[in-house]
Amino acid sequence: MTLAFIGIGNVGFALANNLQGKGYDIIVANDNPESESVQNALKKNSNFKALPVQEAIDVSEITFLATPFKVNEALLKGLDFQGKPLVDCTNPVGPGISHGLESKISGSEKIQEWAPSANVVKAFTIYGFENFSNPAYLNSEEKPAMLYAGNNAVAKEKVANIINSSGFFAKDVGALDQALHLEHMTLLWVKMVRRDGHHPNFMWSYLEK
Ligand SMILES: NC(=O)c1ccc[n+]([C@@H]2O[C@H](COP(=O)([O-])OP(=O)(O)OC[C@H]3O[C@@H](n4cnc5c(N)ncnc54)[C@H](OP(=O)(O)O)[C@@H]3O)[C@@H](O)[C@H]2O)c1
Repeated sequence: MTLAFIGIGNVGFALANNLQGKGYDIIVANDNPESESVQNALKKNSNFKALPVQEAIDVSEITFLATPFKVNEALLKGLDFQGKPLVDCTNPVGPGISHGLESKISGSEKIQEWAPSANVVKAFTIYGFENFSNPAYLNSEEKPAMLYAGNNAVAKEKVANIINSSGFFAKDVGALDQALHLEHMTLLWVKMVRRDGHHPNFMWSYLEK
């Protein structure tokens, strides 16, 4: 299966590199082939290919968005996702590690507005990038949970398969409006680690009985 990555920095590279190792074909989507992060990614993993953004979407089954939130509106305008899943890995972060949209609406719902031809699924945001290249833990059978949310069942099932392949336990938390709460979970993790110095390689698990 072919996956496109718009944004191949900390998050995009860790995840794309993990998934390429699991057998997925990775296309780095960027209209500027000279981009530093694109060049770095192609050097670090010679199995990656690069294409302009729309061409990458056209040849991929699923697209990942791993860009700074503030560029998303302009970036997504005019792209045709043909009803395919768009995995929103981005977070709107405001001053003092607050919610960048003042908790009025999730970033994912804004992305769905800006990319109406996509089926947006929020995933891969609730932890730092340090955990995305290899979520497995020594001496533990338990897999860390990756919570995801979206409105389209078919898109969510496809994304859940990718989450499970990447080494996480995929847990559906509901419709896209739940993304607001996932974004707050992100702020919790970010404040613990980036502000308060907690070790970055920690995640949560989902236990049910
Ligand atoms: N860092 C984390 O631990 C973490 C964890 C979960 C979620 N997130 C979220 O994930 C997103 C990415 O974070 P990151 O740390 O991976 O950022 P990053 O390392 O700065 O990478 C950003 C990527 O986006 C690309 N980009 C920027 N503007 C673009 C545009 N207009 N069009 C196309 N590509 C563009 C950059 O390409 P160029 O090199 O060409 O600029 C780069 O590849 C953010 O929304 C962040 O909140 C971060």
